[in-house]
Amino acid sequence: MTKKRIAVLGAGPSGLAQLRAFQSAAAQGADVPDVVCYEKQADWGGLWNYTWRTGVDQYGEPVHGSMYRYLWSNGPKEGLEFADYTFEEHFGKQIASYPPRAVLFDYIEGRVEKAGVRDWIRFETAVKHVEYDDAAGLFHVTVRDLPSGAQTTEAFDHVICATGHFSTPNVPQFDGFESFPGRILHAHDFRDAVEFEGQDILIVGTSYSAEDIGSQCWKYGARSITVSHRTAAMGYDWPDNWAEVPLLTGVEGRTAHFKDGTSRDVDAIVLCTGYQHHFPFMADDLRLRTANRLATAMLYKGVCFVPNPKLFYLGMQDQWFTFNMFDAQAWWVRDVIMGRIALPDRAAMEADVEDRVAREDAGETDYDAIWYQGDYVKELIAETDYPDFDVEGACQAFKEWKGHKKQGIMTFRDNGYRSVMTGTMAPKHHTPWKDAMDDSLEAYLRN
Ligand SMILES: Cc1cc2nc3c(=O)[nH]c(=O)nc-3n(C[C@H](O)[C@H](O)[C@H](O)COP(=O)(O)OP(=O)(O)OC[C@H]3O[C@@H](n4cnc5c(N)ncnc54)[C@H](O)[C@@H]3O)c2cc1C
Ligand SMILES: NC(=O)c1ccc[n+]([C@@H]2O[C@H](COP(=O)([O-])OP(=O)(O)OC[C@H]3O[C@@H](n4cnc5c(N)ncnc54)[C@H](OP(=O)(O)O)[C@@H]3O)[C@@H](O)[C@H]2O)c1
Repeated sequence: MTKKRIAVLGAGPSGLAQLRAFQSAAAQGADVPDVVCYEKQADWGGLWNYTWRTGVDQYGEPVHGSMYRYLWSNGPKEGLEFADYTFEEHFGKQIASYPPRAVLFDYIEGRVEKAGVRDWIRFETAVKHVEYDDAAGLFHVTVRDLPSGAQTTEAFDHVICATGHFSTPNVPQFDGFESFPGRILHAHDFRDAVEFEGQDILIVGTSYSAEDIGSQCWKYGARSITVSHRTAAMGYDWPDNWAEVPLLTGVEGRTAHFKDGTSRDVDAIVLCTGYQHHFPFMADDLRLRTANRLATAMLYKGVCFVPNPKLFYLGMQDQWFTFNMFDAQAWWVRDVIMGRIALPDRAAMEADVEDRVAREDAGETDYDAIWYQGDYVKELIAETDYPDFDVEGACQAFKEWKGHKKQGIMTFRDNGYRSVMTGTMAPKHHTPWKDAMDDSLEAYLRN
């Protein structure tokens, strides 16, 4: 019998989780399918692979990266630790709880280097089209080798889409933008807070990008930060030069006007208005259409595409849990593909999707949302051999994190938490976050 062929689209944390899932089964002697991973960037790590570029890359492809210089983890690392590869295994010691991007990139890379899966990935290869051939029961995946421009099509039994959903910006328009004299940019194109030193900054949006980009600009010397909300203010105890205002109604020259009739002069506007789930390479009948929420539309168990269950999407949820949730999903998808888990009929899959939506909607607070996603992770890992871990402990770490943010939005990263994998307490970082200007791996590990 010929081996199944699997295409994994994207080598970010989700795609890499999938490669590690298959490799771990192979390491235990299982006969695993042939896996080919297509990654349009020259290296792995997805968003964690920093790029200075914005707009399009050297090949005219949309730049995937949305991360910026000096980005530190916005949640405790104790919530995202891999159950099969701990921070202590990677760094040889326990490290502080809010690592900068470069440190997390190193950790992500360490696991897949150890697994030896780099050869499974075709780098600088962009997925251009995916369609399903009913008669053959196969997917046809068309990719472009970016350096040569050569386009090829290959057939696969399954496709696992792990191309992320925080790269195609949602960009609203406000009156007067066309004649605003300063910079207007989306968070996706923000790269360096130093650019805004001494400036009055307006931020639109109130979620993680707004909070963190505002905090970065504050830390690196912006004169003032004004954050405009559509639904509700974030409500933290902000520094004195930080204001929260209702929704922007428009700008006249450099004067921004808000819904409550107030106005203020600003030098630059950063739209922290979220992202779109965007899969231009998917045939219409294979394209996931969902809001950014915990219970995604169209996905049985949050991963299996109900209209065509040979197709899977990883990491498409809004995220409290990240790396270890992607692992839970990847191990589960692997086991469906390898025939270890059976899928129910379409009606049961649709009922599962509806049930998840209803249960998410019944939650009222952020804590409900954290435990909802924690239960989802538990549910998946209970069905595979992914190492069992204390998901409840990870939820508690997230709860403590939220408490620390309320106590001090510019000091929460100075706290440490206990690893739910090894039981070790994280050391306090050597320098308070607000004074730590060097975000290099070397500086962070100097504990
Ligand atoms: C600014 C920002 C900060 C964040 N900070 C944190 C944090 O502190 N902690 C945390 O846990 N999470 C954070 N996240 C969440 C982040 O989504 C996850 O950590 C993680 O990167 C998601 O992994 P992924 O593999 O699903 O997607 P991605 O990391 O987006 O990776 C997708 C991969 O697919 C590739 N790809 C896309 N399209 C194609 C194509 N057509 N062909 C071939 N390859 C393609 C991309 O190049 C990329 O390598 C942050 C997100 C953003 C935007
Ligand atoms: N490590 C870090 O520190 C860090 C930094 C940045 C981002 N991230 C991650 O990046 C991901 C994305 O976060 P995000 O904040 O970019 O997106 P998001 O969580 O989807 O939030 C989008 C925000 O935009 C607002 N918005 C959308 N359309 C708008 C409009 N037309 N007018 C006004 N406001 C509008 C929303 O307001 P409503 O509430 O009114 O809908 C919401 O506040 C998250 O996973 C986050 O954890 C992490």
